[in-house]
Amino acid sequence: MNDRQGESLAPMAGVLGWPVRHSLSPPLHRHWLQRYGLSGSYEHLPVPPELFEDYVRALFVHGYVGANVTLPHKEAALSLCDDLDDAARAIGAVNTLIFRNGRIEGSNSDGFGFLENLRQALPQWDVTGGPAVVLGAGGAARAVVYALRCAGAPEIRVLNRTLSRAERLVADLGGSAVAKSWSSSALREAALLVNTTSLGMAGQPVLDLDLAPLSVTAAVTDIVYRPLETDLLRRASAAGHPTVDGLGMLLHQARPGFEAWFGRRPAVDAALRTAVVSSL
Ligand code: ATR
Repeated sequence: MNDRQGESLAPMAGVLGWPVRHSLSPPLHRHWLQRYGLSGSYEHLPVPPELFEDYVRALFVHGYVGANVTLPHKEAALSLCDDLDDAARAIGAVNTLIFRNGRIEGSNSDGFGFLENLRQALPQWDVTGGPAVVLGAGGAARAVVYALRCAGAPEIRVLNRTLSRAERLVADLGGSAVAKSWSSSALREAALLVNTTSLGMAGQPVLDLDLAPLSVTAAVTDIVYRPLETDLLRRASAAGHPTVDGLGMLLHQARPGFEAWFGRRPAVDAALRTAVVSSL
């Protein structure tokens, strides 16, 4: 953490996590700062859970403009905010802190990032065109279900290994069907399949789900981005589905924070993607 010497210094922000050194947020925000010729800084802010609240308050006092929040602090961040946006409240987690007017504002842009990524990658795809199937019921699934519900998905089917967790998610956020484990019959008539589990991530087992019942027009997306092309996306693409990888969600979720901290609405485009992919 840098001490702020005076109010004329460039805005400082960063990403809070533990561990956080693998986070792609610093190269992402630094790319935008450089591209738009803005003065400002964005750094890794490693902090263990027991020091999280004190650390955030220290950033606030030292003149930071805010921070992104990643694992394992997203739920803890909720309780120290003076104000929360609807998404953070509904999802139960904060991924963006904005220090403004002497207050700590907390928001959650993960669901926004998820939907914006789909809309940018597949402009013709229609969220209202059929049921969405969401695999997983963790924090990422909560953000995805919230975003799909707000965008008008007609039905959201949540499938998860631990049924009680999926039931809790549906009770909190709405979602119209729950099934235990991976049932390919849940794919019938779906317009979207989303993997929010860690299955398919480098070092994890692949997702063992038969895609045959899925209509060929259904979009398939994965929030996993290490590797960029997961086994699920490779199989879906081979079967003719439009596919979207998970990196774009990360890029788009960063937009609201950057705009609030540094005063410029940033673009998500090929140059940004290339810059971030080189840090993967
Ligand atoms: P995140 O906040 O990133 O979503 P999480 O809360 O740990 O992370 O959730 C991980 C999701 O991946 C959960 O849905 C988890 O299923 P459980 O709720 O049953 O734990 C799912 N998951 C992780 N490893 C899995 C595995 N080997 N098989 C099936 N599901 C798995």
